[in-house]
Amino acid sequence: MNLKIAVLAGDGIGPEVILQAKKVLYAVGSVYNHEFVFEDALMGAVAIDKTGNPLPEQTLNLCLNTDAVLFGAIGDPKYDNNPDAKVRPEQGLLRLRKELGLFANIRPIKPYKSLLDASPLKREYIEGTDFTIFRELTGGVYFGEKKLNEAGTLASDLCEYSEEEIARIAHLAFKSAQNRRNKVTLVDKANVLETSRLWRKVVKNVSAAYPDVALDFLFVDNAAMQIILNPKQFDVILTENLFGDILSDEASVITGSIGLLASASLGKTNALFEPIHGSYPQAAGKNIANPIASILSAALLLEHFGLFEEAKNVYEGVKKSIEYQVVTIDLNPGSTFGTNEVGEFVSNFILNKDDLLYF
Ligand code: IPM
Ligand code: MN
Repeated sequence: MNLKIAVLAGDGIGPEVILQAKKVLYAVGSVYNHEFVFEDALMGAVAIDKTGNPLPEQTLNLCLNTDAVLFGAIGDPKYDNNPDAKVRPEQGLLRLRKELGLFANIRPIKPYKSLLDASPLKREYIEGTDFTIFRELTGGVYFGEKKLNEAGTLASDLCEYSEEEIARIAHLAFKSAQNRRNKVTLVDKANVLETSRLWRKVVKNVSAAYPDVALDFLFVDNAAMQIILNPKQFDVILTENLFGDILSDEASVITGSIGLLASASLGKTNALFEPIHGSYPQAAGKNIANPIASILSAALLLEHFGLFEEAKNVYEGVKKSIEYQVVTIDLNPGSTFGTNEVGEFVSNFILNKDDLLYF
């Protein structure tokens, strides 16, 4: 298979973790005879520094005309601490999601057996957890009208959802549940929000087409508690943009590190693969950031193109790296391995190099 992949390394640890994902994809390409052609482009704070624009037109055009986008991380403290900044790195990612129509962000949560004790949560609560969050990605409060009065003393962000925006992601969530354990949980705040009441109505209607899938509802405050108290109850969580953002960071605690979680952002014609973590600027350039989220995002990319055997091999390599403790310090504070070594290990595993035991 030939794939043209746009690579947006972004900010902070982005370039380091993306490099490992590329390494792994090169390994897959050479073992399975695929040609992956990477094209790097600017987005985020680096793009603002170089062009004044967090998503330069050149980057957008490239992404619109590639098979897939691999994205690293975004954000820089110099903007986080400056509420008056008019141009912000995150605007690049948000605009890209919108322009590519990436309405569904899929975030799998499944702890590795060998990492059950890396989570601060008790083993007996989290063992056997396996759920996927379907986060709506191009609507809600992220994209509603924003206002700030002249005096700078009153602000608002509009939360808006249309029936169509809800239905299209609901269909994906139900289809996914049919290949899993046949359960969808809609997380909302329908006791307070009009948008949530619309979500309930539309999702209930959509569910009629999937009689083999059970649908239940949870208010988001309760869901935040249930994810910690009894995560095993979930199969597919379907939710709107902001709730999905918050709940997925919370859910990462089950796996032991946010550095492990990958995601796929899908639209009708485009697809982008990204870790759920941020740019972790304190770690940039130190070879300590966990590249697994980025490597697993590459595995999701392979699956997206039907390369299941290849993806399985990547998952296997990641699993082995964890079992052999070739991990970064977020997973083992005493580890002497870094970002680069984890990437090397996984790509060597795929290349079937027999010097693995060197680690
Ligand atoms: C994520 C991130 C982004 C989001 C930020 C960087 C805009 O937190 O992908 O979860 O809020 O969607
Ligand atoms: Mn987030």
